[in-house]
Amino acid sequence: MSKIVFITGASSGFGKACAEKFASNGYKLILNARRIERLEEIRVDLKSRFNSEVELAPFDVRDQQAVMAAIDKLPAEWKNVDILVNNAGLAVGRDYFEEADLDDWNRMVDTNVKGFMYVAKAISMLMAKRKTGHIINLGSIAGKQVYEKGNVYCATKFAVDALNQAMRIDLLRHGIKVTAIHPGAAETEFSSVRFKGDETTAKSVYTGLEALSAMDVADVIYYTSTLPAHVCINDLVVTCTRQADAMYYNREPATK
Ligand SMILES: NC(=O)c1ccc[n+]([C@@H]2O[C@H](COP(=O)([O-])OP(=O)(O)OC[C@H]3O[C@@H](n4cnc5c(N)ncnc54)[C@H](OP(=O)(O)O)[C@@H]3O)[C@@H](O)[C@H]2O)c1
Repeated sequence: MSKIVFITGASSGFGKACAEKFASNGYKLILNARRIERLEEIRVDLKSRFNSEVELAPFDVRDQQAVMAAIDKLPAEWKNVDILVNNAGLAVGRDYFEEADLDDWNRMVDTNVKGFMYVAKAISMLMAKRKTGHIINLGSIAGKQVYEKGNVYCATKFAVDALNQAMRIDLLRHGIKVTAIHPGAAETEFSSVRFKGDETTAKSVYTGLEALSAMDVADVIYYTSTLPAHVCINDLVVTCTRQADAMYYNREPATK
């Protein structure tokens, strides 16, 4: 029987690439994001290319009641979620601490920490009943090392790192795997969202790099989900070769 993967933030970037990766490997998918029209397009595309069964769960992860209701309302056979890719998230703004916009901070905390927790809680309850499952949490290199003007975004991803460790411990007795993936710079809509549509600044993040692609990250996520039952990757940092950590990049022109 096909396994079921639930992916949050599936309308773009890593989530969308994961949808394609898992669909091409015969999984059934539950796709979440706010932009339902994009999810509809992805569903049609995956159906036509891979004959995938796709259920849509279009809610805002910040809305606690909507998260709980949507997961509760899933048809019984779709509640047997084998893998959660807990990915929805964003950075908004990149400002010095004292100059930053409180609304930006609230959006990041509400999405990356609280929304992240609501989805993980709801799905872990389903997995605990079945004594099986794998939760794959999207952290960031920004959750390992703070950088200038990263303040609250970094703090939310440090929280993801802590919550990942907490889930790994608390869900141990149910046999649930918990994995955090911490990517470095990856070219998705992430920077466009962060810089509020300023495409020049957004593109400058990737100047001189061959940054990770969304599919590079999806490949890593998929790999962690396909290991034998007794093997669990707890924590994985992945960057492009030209990025050493949250601050050190090689943007020199290639010599060959
Ligand atoms: N790209 C990077 O360099 C990078 C590096 C490290 C970690 N990350 C993390 O990786 C994750 C995915 O980022 P990405 O690069 O794929 O960015 P992206 O292309 O902007 O995709 C973000 C996804 O999150 C969804 N989302 C945002 N807020 C949401 C909400 N309130 N409710 C439901 N869905 C929401 C968006 O869908 P809708 O707008 O349709 O709701 C979209 O599908 C994020 O957690 C990000 O922090 C990214």
